[in-house]
Amino acid sequence: MQTILNSVTDTSRYAKCIEVSKRIRWDIDQDVIRNRGFDLNQRFLPDGLSRVGDLEFLTPAERRLISQIQGRTYANMFGLVERFIGAKVLEVSRYHWLGDQTALEALVRFSDEELKHQELFRRLERMAAAGMPEGYSFLPQPNEVAMAVLGKATWAVLALTCHIELFTQAHYRSSIAPETQIDPLWKDVFLYHWREESQHAILDELEWQREDARLTAEERDRAVDDLIDLVAAVDGILKVQAAADTHYFLAVAGRAFDGDRVTRLQATVLKAYRWQYIVSGVQDPRFIGILREMITDAQMQRIGAALAPIIG
Ligand SMILES: [Fe+2]
Ligand SMILES: [Fe+2]
Repeated sequence: MQTILNSVTDTSRYAKCIEVSKRIRWDIDQDVIRNRGFDLNQRFLPDGLSRVGDLEFLTPAERRLISQIQGRTYANMFGLVERFIGAKVLEVSRYHWLGDQTALEALVRFSDEELKHQELFRRLERMAAAGMPEGYSFLPQPNEVAMAVLGKATWAVLALTCHIELFTQAHYRSSIAPETQIDPLWKDVFLYHWREESQHAILDELEWQREDARLTAEERDRAVDDLIDLVAAVDGILKVQAAADTHYFLAVAGRAFDGDRVTRLQATVLKAYRWQYIVSGVQDPRFIGILREMITDAQMQRIGAALAPIIG
């Protein structure tokens, strides 16, 4: 009886996602870009996410440049993770192929939206490259990362995905929406992205719980290890890209910084990236709430211990 009630509730949640997804659906050119380019006199990523306020020795123009570099990487990071998210969503849709057709439709829309988002982020990268000085590079390769991620347990991939889609919303609501002094196009990109991601976070939760219910205790315990491995892999990517972005800043800033300041720049960019892509998500109350329902206290402590050096 409980199972039937759950599936009725789930179907109505999938149906709600479809309804909202149809209502808010947007077009890259007509709604988001609208023949605009980036205004390089404006910041991209808000200070609350970029942590440039910690770098008191930078001029306002240098802070703006750091914000633009981080904002460019922010868009590229979403393009990166959406490769494996789209693939995993298509994969788990198989559990609904001959079952709940409403759930299947919701997941098909989800993966279609992630394909559109990847196209949007590729467009933005080309626009940023055309306006900003040469030398920037986004190093992680979407397919290589996706191959590694998709080799892990589905439970762990859905946990990582749920965390990403929840922090996407948290960043928009708390840091991006209230900002009036950032580039309007960059801001609109993340407004429109947030609108579609709101449904994705609900679907992640449903699919993650459905997957969780399939697992034995031993399988779940191994999946917790996989989640820890995935977070470590994300951190590895962040270290590489923080170093690359600091290097690019130093190359185009137009003045030399002493060794101490270079060290602080690099540490601050890494701290910002860890906040953006790991810490803000794992501290999200909704994420913690869903996770806590699935795992034991000992497993929660294992995850906490693995995160401790990253949270710092
Ligand atoms: Fe997306
Ligand atoms: Fe998404």
